[in-house]
Amino acid sequence: MNTVILLLRILHVVGGVFWVGSAILYFYFVAPSVKGLGPARPQFLQGFIERRRYPMFMNISSAVTILAGALLYWNSSGGLQTAWIQTPTGIGFTIGSVAAILAYLLGFILIRPRGQRLGQLGKEIAMAGGPPPATLAAEMHVLDDEIMALERVELVLMIVSLLTMATARYWGM
Ligand code: HEM
Repeated sequence: MNTVILLLRILHVVGGVFWVGSAILYFYFVAPSVKGLGPARPQFLQGFIERRRYPMFMNISSAVTILAGALLYWNSSGGLQTAWIQTPTGIGFTIGSVAAILAYLLGFILIRPRGQRLGQLGKEIAMAGGPPPATLAAEMHVLDDEIMALERVELVLMIVSLLTMATARYWGM
């Protein structure tokens, strides 16, 4: 195995661990805990999204995973040879790749702008002090519900990708 492939595999697998692991942590642990925070919630969201830059971390880890994955796909398929793509292993890696790319697009096009708006609202509310005005609280609520629904779909796609990537090499054996 040459050094470039080794490096790409490290970037790909580590990027995938960060991306999918963080999405699972957020969906199952952070988001439900934050819901119960009450008045401290906007402040938490402001720190999480604006100061700690969670969305940027997700953008970078997903982009690294996909770019390195695309190069590995090019290499494994001998430059997109259908002979490899049609093998059970090729089909497995193709399903995983498409699922991960769809998850990325969903995150980038639909979840990201909502997350940014949520961070902005958190900032406005935290700066104003006191309990959030009803209109802002209602907007936060709608954004929350939309983000959770979209993330549920994103997570399913990620898990499909994770499972196919983890096993595709052994399909057809
Ligand atoms: C959720 C995102 C992803 C995760 C968690 C992930 C994870 C993994 C893992 C753990 C492997 C090692 C499997 C093995 O060697 O048997 C792997 C290999 C691979 N992945 Fe992904 N992957 C993801 C997305 C992608 C994407 C988007 C592409 C293509 C655009 C891709 C293409 C590949 C290819 C071609 C291999 C085989 C590499 C080789 O033979 O050296 N992956 N992936």
